[in-house]
Amino acid sequence: MNASFEKKILCIGAGYVGGPTMAMIARKCPNYKVTVVDINPQRIQRWKSDRLPIYEPGLKELVEATRGRNLFFSTDIEEGIREADIIFVSVNTPTKTYGLGAGMAADLQYWEKTARQILACARSPKIIVEKSTLPVKTALAMERILKSRESRIHFEVLSNPEFLAEGTAVRDLEKPDRVLIGSRLTPSGLKARQELVDIYRNWVPEENIITSDIWSSELSKLVSNAFLAQRISSINAISALCEKTEADIRNVAMAVGRDGRIGSRFLNASIGFGGSCFKKDILNLVYICRHYGLEEVAEYWESVVHINEYQKERFVRHMLTAMFNTLAGKKICILGFAFKANTGDTRESPAIHVCTRLLEERAELVISDPKALDNARLDLGHLEQERISFVQDPYEAARGVHAIAVMTEWDLYRRLDYQKIYDDMIKPAFIFDGRNVIDHEKLYDIGFNVYAIGKTPLTHFDESESVQDLQA
Ligand code: UDX
Ligand code: ADP
Repeated sequence: MNASFEKKILCIGAGYVGGPTMAMIARKCPNYKVTVVDINPQRIQRWKSDRLPIYEPGLKELVEATRGRNLFFSTDIEEGIREADIIFVSVNTPTKTYGLGAGMAADLQYWEKTARQILACARSPKIIVEKSTLPVKTALAMERILKSRESRIHFEVLSNPEFLAEGTAVRDLEKPDRVLIGSRLTPSGLKARQELVDIYRNWVPEENIITSDIWSSELSKLVSNAFLAQRISSINAISALCEKTEADIRNVAMAVGRDGRIGSRFLNASIGFGGSCFKKDILNLVYICRHYGLEEVAEYWESVVHINEYQKERFVRHMLTAMFNTLAGKKICILGFAFKANTGDTRESPAIHVCTRLLEERAELVISDPKALDNARLDLGHLEQERISFVQDPYEAARGVHAIAVMTEWDLYRRLDYQKIYDDMIKPAFIFDGRNVIDHEKLYDIGFNVYAIGKTPLTHFDESESVQDLQA
């Protein structure tokens, strides 16, 4: 059966990027055999099962349509390398936690191990595709490793960054705004680039496939994420000003976004951005700028991360001051733990910071999320378990609590029966909407004291007297 496949594709790393991307390629290119390998056997087992290791709308159907036909999952990395014509590398590149560049630079150890393993196992020429987000010039390091042995095997390294966003991965893969492919501008580089273009051409319109030199491609991915994160920090910075001036951030965002040059997307003020990419990629960009002596440029981008940290902490402080400057012994329901809706992923989720800080204030937490509770348990596993509970049902989670904090914009939270929730809460009842997803006026009418991002609070207290005045 294998003999009938036109080409063999391997993907090293069966994570959030590798798994969905390869499932889409398999779906759109039935003549290609696509194998996804990983060092983590449990992860591979889950990809082979009904319980996929990640949740993405439409992914299960996509995998089921191709698995066993031309999409395969395996732990045999060496065999995979030997038989592949094209190898996508999508292993993780977390921020370094040790040594030079700790907390800033990308940790390239998994990446380099993979390069060495390809070199050790390959018996025929291969195209190696960087899929993970990497510091600019990583392809050069990859080429140097792959050329380090006396061997006549030719490896051509391409950069093909993935722009999918979690929660919409299948849609983004099916209809990408653009596919970017960077290569060396040599005859062999251009030939390899064309092979990759030919894969994507099976479903992506030619005008959406952009090609460039390899360094621009690597850098474009970092810069795209930096620009997106910068928009969120910009609107979040203005949300702080709105809270002081009685302006409403949603009206400001709407008015600003109607300028076609600015555009309306990615202007939702929030408790802050999370996810595995934004912070990591900006810090990486900052590190590279410092490396080249561009201190002003580094500081400019670093401020995007600073505003994000400020926004998360501002939210916690609001909760504390609103609830009479003490949270000790108070029960707080956390609605949503994922870093955004429609995913179970909690990497860098703002909920982690908020929950950690609330526990420091001695609050008791009841955490609810439709998809992310397993990850939430892992994320908070090192904290005091006797003050944390995990409850799937939002009504049950909110029963008998002093306050609710909305951390994720799950659609479900827009449609809850808040009258029912209010009736079962301790009074005065507080709600802190970190995503501006609920109807605040309606909540206020029910009886809640409502605190949203970038809006004047709606409370039933006499705000002319502050608690500090009363205590004085
Ligand atoms: C991002 C990029 O969008 C994607 O192109 C890249 O490949 C990977 O990084 P992702 O992290 O999956 O994708 O999610 P994204 O939709 O970008 O959201 C990131 C964070 O920003 C989330 O926490 C989200 O809730 C937050 N966000 C997004 C806002 O707070 N406001 C907005 O207006 C948009
Ligand atoms: P991303 O969001 O970039 O896809 P993930 O962390 O979800 O990142 O996935 C990266 C995957 O790469 C993990 O499943 C990890 O086990 C795998 N991985 C890391 N190093 C190697 C390696 N040397 N060989 C094979 N797989 C690896």
